[in-house]
Amino acid sequence: MLCSHTSLATPMIAAQPASLPASPLCAPRLLLAPMEGMVDEVMRRVLTDATAYDWCVTEFVRVSGSLLPIRFFTRIAPELLAASRTAAGTPVRVQLLGSEPACMAENADRLAELLPAGIDLNFGCPAPTVNRHRGGAVLLDEPELLCDIATQVSRAIAGRVPFTAKMRLGVQDKSRALEAAQALADGGAQMIVVHARTKEEGYRPPAHWPWIARIAEAVKIPVVANGEVWTVEDYLRCRAESGLRDVMLGRGAVADPFLAGRIRGHLRGEELSSMAEDWHALRPFIHDFWQRVQKKVEPRHAPGRLKQWLNLLRRNYVQAELLYQAIRPLRECDDIQVVLQASIGDVGAMGVPDATDTVGDVRELAHH
Ligand SMILES: Cc1cc2nc3c(=O)[nH]c(=O)nc-3n(C[C@H](O)[C@H](O)[C@H](O)COP(=O)(O)O)c2cc1C
Repeated sequence: MLCSHTSLATPMIAAQPASLPASPLCAPRLLLAPMEGMVDEVMRRVLTDATAYDWCVTEFVRVSGSLLPIRFFTRIAPELLAASRTAAGTPVRVQLLGSEPACMAENADRLAELLPAGIDLNFGCPAPTVNRHRGGAVLLDEPELLCDIATQVSRAIAGRVPFTAKMRLGVQDKSRALEAAQALADGGAQMIVVHARTKEEGYRPPAHWPWIARIAEAVKIPVVANGEVWTVEDYLRCRAESGLRDVMLGRGAVADPFLAGRIRGHLRGEELSSMAEDWHALRPFIHDFWQRVQKKVEPRHAPGRLKQWLNLLRRNYVQAELLYQAIRPLRECDDIQVVLQASIGDVGAMGVPDATDTVGDVRELAHH
């Protein structure tokens, strides 16, 4: 089926800047972004233990031409076996990526049987290998197809679980951004997350937050802003420029695992804590990540995962920079363990604090 949707090529008037702070009765939502190769179940667990999110989204499950066995879904989203929640209780939505409407629908139907906290469709991935197989962001040039996929998936899910989609602003340029969003909404997506860059723009700053305001004006469903939010200040500017309440955090959440808590604290009028103080609170989470990642992946792959995280953490934490430099040449888990022990101490004994949405609470626990 092809959907009819109005051409929305004319620029819309940007929404009014959000008035901050928001009413606690309708708290702005903070979501943890899907990040393939980085935010797997181990990272989701650690990050949602460190701070609260309204929900997180898994790496994509690639759908191409066949009905996937259940283990394909549970491999990407082991949380499906635990009521689709992380250990901290954060709901986990599962993302699908593909371009064939009937096949996407068939797989969404199977996935819905597993009762994920939601099903999300990926129209943002810029990876050449994925795009070559007509998956991810390249489909943004084909609004009829987007609508067809969303329509068939929506019918297959039949209201059993929430249904969302994630998109960029376009492939080469932004001329069809509103059309693409409208197509997804027409097809039945209940919410759209907009990563405010085109595929061509990759991950280069800036993110074009005012474009998200245009999209939000053009569709009748809720829209979530995403892209380039690394700090509380970025968050406030993103909300002001997008005019939206709800924000999805990607690399910024990995680079500062307390960012969401920091944002909530700021909205409550609390003073921001310093990064130096928070490093102390972060140590048990690094320890926990290292233990869990070693259990999950082969020994030759575990060091890379820790280096990948430290590489982002060092944007914010000087101690992470030192640790990163010390660990960078090491290849063996045992050698890394020695350096880690010397750097962050025996934090394993203290365990990871319970999930909490304030940095202060975590810091207090970590100091005990
Ligand atoms: C390493 C990496 C992997 C990603 N994998 C996915 C993915 O599987 N699905 C998806 O929708 N977006 C994916 N993204 C995009 C992010 O969800 C997010 O939209 C993007 O990073 C912009 O947000 P940020 O600037 O806050 O990081 C990925 C991004 C990165 C950096």
